[in-house]
Amino acid sequence: MIPVITVDGASGTGKSVLATKLAEQMSWHCLRSGLIYRGLAWIAHQKHIPFSDVTALRALIDLLSYREGQLYCDQQPAFRCAGIHDEEIAHNASQLSQYPDLRIDLLPLQRQFRIPPGLVAEGRDMGSVVFNDASVKIFLIVEDSVRVRRRCAQLKKSGKIMPIKKVMEMIRHRDHRDRHRDASPLQYTKDAILLDNSEDNIQQTLQKIIEIIRRKQPTFLQNRKSIH
Ligand code: DC
Repeated sequence: MIPVITVDGASGTGKSVLATKLAEQMSWHCLRSGLIYRGLAWIAHQKHIPFSDVTALRALIDLLSYREGQLYCDQQPAFRCAGIHDEEIAHNASQLSQYPDLRIDLLPLQRQFRIPPGLVAEGRDMGSVVFNDASVKIFLIVEDSVRVRRRCAQLKKSGKIMPIKKVMEMIRHRDHRDRHRDASPLQYTKDAILLDNSEDNIQQTLQKIIEIIRRKQPTFLQNRKSIH
């Protein structure tokens, strides 16, 4: 079986950048599953499909595809989809991600990313549902105030200034929905390793993840590149 490492956590815990860097170092593939939900929300927005129409939303899944290591949304590489990283699309993605049938329909696409030599998959339900046979499962947590600070800095970098209170409200609202939905909610499973990175930067957290892998599956690190 092709090995998988999962990195799950709420928004703003740094899981995307950590998973990307980890996959890069290990020369493994990387699945950012949030991008799939965002991609679907982006297509729905383009086609003016209401987020309450599950049947129409499910019909859009065929417009998502995985080719040569990239996610395509309606024939466009995801990175070219304007606004896909915006909080508005994230909010819409969180809204449609509540539908159980839609989540089931998205499983095959997510599992297509499991390609040799291995996969680092990040999201909300990577270790609990999509790749529940993963050999190493990390669950990231970060204090709310730190997440808000990091998100504000990220927004500022992309030229958007938002009051801290508003950012806190948006994060809490999305988290609440992602944690309390019936279908595959964000939750810590007993076989995952809980990692609090409130006090650590990306490099320090990455180092901790590598130590966990070394302890649990040392052979995974055989071909690791050292990148700083
Ligand atoms: O990780 P992200 O912020 O890009 O995710 C956007 C939304 O997509 C998130 O609020 C909930 C949904 N999502 C999900 O339900 N399951 C996943 N595995 C990943 C994301």
